[in-house]
Amino acid sequence: MKVQVCIIGGGPSGLLVAQLLHLRGIDTIVLEKHSREYVLARVRAGVLERGFAQLMREAQCGQRMDREGEIHDGFEIAHDGVLERVDLHKYSGGNSVIVYGQTELTRDLYEARDALKGAVIHDAEDVALFDLASDAPYVTYRHGGKTVRVDCEYVIGADGFHGVSRKSIPSDKLREYEKIFPFGWLGVLSRTKPVSPELIYVKHRRGFALCSMRSQVLSRYYIQVPLTDTPDRWSDDAFWAELKSRLPDEAANRLITGPSIEKSVAPLRSFVAEPMRYGRLFLAGDAAHIVPPTGAKGLNTAASDVYYLYHALLSHYKKRDDSGLDGYSEKA
Ligand code: FAD
Ligand code: PHB
Repeated sequence: MKVQVCIIGGGPSGLLVAQLLHLRGIDTIVLEKHSREYVLARVRAGVLERGFAQLMREAQCGQRMDREGEIHDGFEIAHDGVLERVDLHKYSGGNSVIVYGQTELTRDLYEARDALKGAVIHDAEDVALFDLASDAPYVTYRHGGKTVRVDCEYVIGADGFHGVSRKSIPSDKLREYEKIFPFGWLGVLSRTKPVSPELIYVKHRRGFALCSMRSQVLSRYYIQVPLTDTPDRWSDDAFWAELKSRLPDEAANRLITGPSIEKSVAPLRSFVAEPMRYGRLFLAGDAAHIVPPTGAKGLNTAASDVYYLYHALLSHYKKRDDSGLDGYSEKA
């Protein structure tokens, strides 16, 4: 098989760049290790910044996000038993964020890929990258017991922190900076009305907590826990009791609890790898950098990579101008 751009990873970064390139007539394939159901069952981001939302619109995938997502102009910080509102709109020169789940936006991206008959291979096992420093790189994967070879002009590594792309760069060509925090976030999703119309970030001596949401009937809460804790060690009752103990009374008293429909622990890490290019391989999103979810920034930095890479590839294919590709790593 031959394509112009082979994309590793069917998360938000990989699907977005595939969709944008496809709309401009550039041929892509997305290789995703897991099934679609598995990818869509992973609960992650809930808050989108302007940059990500704009790129979704540019990729013609923003209709449902704009219809169903909630615009938030501020959030609250709880400390020492009080709640204080931060006016995002006022202090950011008129910006706001959109509350719309990563699950939903990934579903929208998959549906857009299907509508254009874009190639997305799920359950692509043992993806391996070859000859990246040459003019003729190729990628292999196993599917249904067969090994498939994809010859391509460029490879985009959008396969997240644990992916194979970054690991395919020789170690003497890559610098990595990492801080692993000694705690994680235990997250619970519940079909309950959120405790507050806006997010509450909580600083408390028992540990950080966050009250977020996916909609007015779906809440997402997090509490900071030791890394050794696993979700099965936390009953729903224990989770709600701990969350309440970290909230100011006025919020704790109105918290509506219910059965969890998802419970998971996310480790917290800061990580940057550079350069983000090796020969014909370009890294994008969590494959190259991770920030802890505290700032709700991961998707926005991914969108910034996708934006630069998409425009760099457009300049290459449409204008024979490689300055965008050459400057990508430094810019991103
Ligand atoms: P990923 O989403 O990790 O996608 C990579 C894909 O590659 C995956 O589907 C994976 O299965 C696939 N893959 C991996 N290895 C291989 C392989 N070898 N071969 C083929 N495919 C492979 N960000 C925000 O902006 N706002 C938030 O509110 C926010 N909240 C968060 C909350 C939590 C609890 C967490 C953990 C993260 C949060 N983030 C948030 C960060 C955000 O989820 C990530 O930045 C985002 O998922 C990055 O997208 P990506 O496509 O680069 O990587
Ligand atoms: C979420 O809703 O999952 C979420 C919201 C804000 C954050 C992190 C996660 O900072």
